[in-house]
Amino acid sequence: MKHAPRPNHYRDAWCGQLTADRADTEARVAGWVHRRRDHGGLIFIDLRDRSGIVQLVFDPENAPEAHERAHALRSEDVISAGGNVTRRDPKNVNPNLATGEIELAVGRLEILADAETPPFPVDNGADVDEIIRLRHRSLDLRRAQLQRTIALRHRAIATMREVLNERDFLEIETPYLTRSTPEGARDYLVPARIQPGSFYALPQSPQLFKQLLMIGGMERYYQIARCFRDEDTRADRQPEFTQLDVEMAFVEEDDVIDCMEAVMGAVFEREGFDVPAPPWPRMTFAEAVSRYGIDRPDTRFGLELHDLGEAVASSEFKVFADVLAAGGVVRGINAGARELPRSDLDALTELAKQHGAKGLVWAFVQDDGWRSPIAKFLSEAEIAAITQRLSGSAGDLLLIVADEITTVGQALSALRMELGRRFDLIATDRHDILWVVEFPAFFWDADAERWDAAHHPFTAPSGELSDPANLSSRAYDLVLDGAEIGGGSIRINRLDIQERVFELLGIGPEEAQARFGFFLDALRYGAPPHGGIAMGIDRIVTALAGVDTIRDTIAFPKAASGADPLTGAPAPVDPTQIRELGLRPAR
Ligand code: AMO
Ligand code: AMP
Repeated sequence: MKHAPRPNHYRDAWCGQLTADRADTEARVAGWVHRRRDHGGLIFIDLRDRSGIVQLVFDPENAPEAHERAHALRSEDVISAGGNVTRRDPKNVNPNLATGEIELAVGRLEILADAETPPFPVDNGADVDEIIRLRHRSLDLRRAQLQRTIALRHRAIATMREVLNERDFLEIETPYLTRSTPEGARDYLVPARIQPGSFYALPQSPQLFKQLLMIGGMERYYQIARCFRDEDTRADRQPEFTQLDVEMAFVEEDDVIDCMEAVMGAVFEREGFDVPAPPWPRMTFAEAVSRYGIDRPDTRFGLELHDLGEAVASSEFKVFADVLAAGGVVRGINAGARELPRSDLDALTELAKQHGAKGLVWAFVQDDGWRSPIAKFLSEAEIAAITQRLSGSAGDLLLIVADEITTVGQALSALRMELGRRFDLIATDRHDILWVVEFPAFFWDADAERWDAAHHPFTAPSGELSDPANLSSRAYDLVLDGAEIGGGSIRINRLDIQERVFELLGIGPEEAQARFGFFLDALRYGAPPHGGIAMGIDRIVTALAGVDTIRDTIAFPKAASGADPLTGAPAPVDPTQIRELGLRPAR
């Protein structure tokens, strides 16, 4: 704490800051009973506030009344205590505590609030069921880990603001009650009483508003913005999450990237987080996918993918031949010399299938060929060619998937991450950060039989729209240790191009006007070239704090189910409230 509390009835010092230089003075502190130790005569209380812990001593000789009442104190009771700061005997000094050289000899004790026995201990890091922690979040927040992480989150956001303020950005709020924004997830809808049957949508991001701000001449905008997306919650996803949202006018990719490197570089530096200093490396989407199978590669270990198309070009093994004939790919990784029993190989096959693969070829390299269930289907020359392409030597485990390119990438990258974790291949002494650039602009949605925007429909393509299959976009993602922590793009600033992109995406002029008319209209009146990015603050703090889930970085998160065990939301509401909104109660 930088600022001593204003002396009042409760306290004149922070618990964690009563150090030896206050020895032999009177002090008052307030906080929660962290621990109590009764030593026959003397009672010791560790008192805790946000700043830390100080030891209180109650001596029956000096303060019989306070001592008597201290007997009854229990964990998490709230008290204020006043007394003399005394140096401890050298043999009682606790070097692990900032206040370990002193203790407060209490003369006056005031009990401000009793605490019932907490449902879990607050004074240690014991593993507690997450639902119980979320249900009693105010107790959980008192524990060291959340105290640390929430303070870190604050510092990270403060640093972002400092760097951007310094660079002439304006912090501007945008509405939460608005219309659907296309970020690819389901919307949260809010029924409108003023117009029964109509709905506001909570924003999936402030995308269109920040573009309107650029058209509105604000030049440089940022916001710590809450975004709402109704999608399945995962370890790194929340239905409402927070972005550092940024937009700039008259910029190119390098301007946005340089600005974000300044912001994130400062955040990492302040937290002593071991990433290389910017500028950070850039990798094209094509390279990321061919080497790692995925557009957010974890580059802290090898096990890279290799294309086996040439090695199996004339294969008679039906799986390979059919896939190649259909325009798919055959790729593999060399998992190294691993002794894996059949059950583990089955589990790896299952993992590949969970990621869309139809199967997994596994093979152990031997001096004279392969030990593999499919060895009998391959010629000696083929086996030799695959082994050579994967740099296999005796004992190595080779894993191969054949399918269309995206599925192969997803399956092999999931296998790669699993092997990396299981065999401790991932460097833990450093963090890797990189930009992924030159994304494809569109991908073909075979089910819907139309093109889909790879980023969002407002992203500028790098070239002519006539050949969507081979067009890249001016988008970029920031990837930290295999997690996508941010993404953005240069935008379309011309109405004709925006209209043609909508057309390509199967959004006709009428639908475009109905959904985005307000935005298309703005584009008519002189939109500057502009671009921006959004950083996932929850994910960034997860990495900085080294916690397991983004739920541990949010004061009041939703559970993995998407529900809130604290408030019980979502919850039924009164039928009259529903009717007032022009809705019909569900039975
Ligand atoms: P995008 O959808 O890529 O881009 O989101 C930007 C970043 O937000 C984080 N993120 C999430 N974090 C937690 N829970 C979620 N459900 C979640 N979804 C996304 C990720 C991601 O990189 N409007 C564009 C940005 C732009 O073009 O400027 C956008 O929202 O870290
Ligand atoms: P099958 O012809 O389906 O019996 O498969 C023969 C072997 O090839 C099995 O070990 C399967 O796991 C594997 N396999 C099947 N399809 C694929 C595929 N698309 N990619 C990699 N291996 C596959």
